[in-house]
Amino acid sequence: MEKKHKVLVLTGGGDCPGLNAVIRGIAKRARKEKDWEVFGAIEAFNGVFREPNEIIKLTRSVTAGIHVRGGTILKTTNKGNPLKFPMPQPDGSIKTVDRTNELVKKIKALGFDAVINIGGDGSQRISQALFAKGLPIIGVPKTIDNDLSATDMTFGFQTAVQIATDSFDKLVTTAESHHRVMIMEVMGRDAGWIALHTAIAGGAEVCLIPEIPYDINKIVRRINLRYKNGRGFVNIVISEGAKPKDGTVTAGAGEKGSEHVRLGGVAYQLSKQLKDAGCVAEIRETVLGHVQRGGSPSAFDRVLATMFGVHAFELVLKKEYGRMVAYKNNGISSVTLEEATREPSFVDKNSSMVKAAKGLGISFGD
Ligand code: F6P
Repeated sequence: MEKKHKVLVLTGGGDCPGLNAVIRGIAKRARKEKDWEVFGAIEAFNGVFREPNEIIKLTRSVTAGIHVRGGTILKTTNKGNPLKFPMPQPDGSIKTVDRTNELVKKIKALGFDAVINIGGDGSQRISQALFAKGLPIIGVPKTIDNDLSATDMTFGFQTAVQIATDSFDKLVTTAESHHRVMIMEVMGRDAGWIALHTAIAGGAEVCLIPEIPYDINKIVRRINLRYKNGRGFVNIVISEGAKPKDGTVTAGAGEKGSEHVRLGGVAYQLSKQLKDAGCVAEIRETVLGHVQRGGSPSAFDRVLATMFGVHAFELVLKKEYGRMVAYKNNGISSVTLEEATREPSFVDKNSSMVKAAKGLGISFGD
């Protein structure tokens, strides 16, 4: 029987454990409808722009068992924003152009009835702009940073916290053996969620997050309390966006064509600040980096991602476009793309979680 309807799925921005589980959730749910076919664009909208386009059919054999795999079978990029598409110029510079009209026209000409865009806040802003231009689109939130207020949780976050906690546990034993201060830097951009959860789960003495600028002297005092006759150990978790009071964060430009500011390296900055402020203990730094985004998603993230996928396709069936799926109050619902991108979610320094951490004696350097 001739299939009548087609949905296009894509993954954009940084990858995140659980993306494949969303793709499989969409495909499996769609297979229950006799007249729908699911396709995937390779490397987000770049796969649509390319001539010939790179769009694959998400058949049963393509999606079978992929929910346990990290990464995304559809590949991803943060250099393909159709609103500011990077065009390399003959002199090596990059000019950005708005290609949204061309994109909407092309997707419609290819016969797609709907698009499901799996991505973070940047991707959902793109979804919103495309929806405003008449593209029937649904958003699915993803980020290990967990920094979207429209959803209580994003998939990938739990897996990242588990990876960070496992690494932290390993650093504790070596810190103890050598009487060292260990600094472990985790991801999260401007949100301290990964650091805060890891600090509580791992039992850190110090947790430094972007939302609470730190006073280096207070951290040195906390370290000294743990040392007697040169013996003791301290484990610190620092979020890549953390900064001292009146200080700045270590950041570099992203690669050519990327809109990203690249964070990373605050562990080394903190190590130097500690030495300059009189910390006499030996210090070692670990920057965890992309290992936090790799590998198989946790069971929780597989479940959340799968539920997002199923719900996203059901929104397509109901033609409830311009919405992003969300996890709120223990259930899956959806919000408008406008609401989805309005507010980031940051750690509140008066929240119960920060209070609990302080209750345990974790110092935030404030
Ligand atoms: O937003 C997810 C994230 O992993 C951040 O925590 C991190 O700062 C950034 O992406 C890294 O991006 P890239 O993969 O481009 O280096």
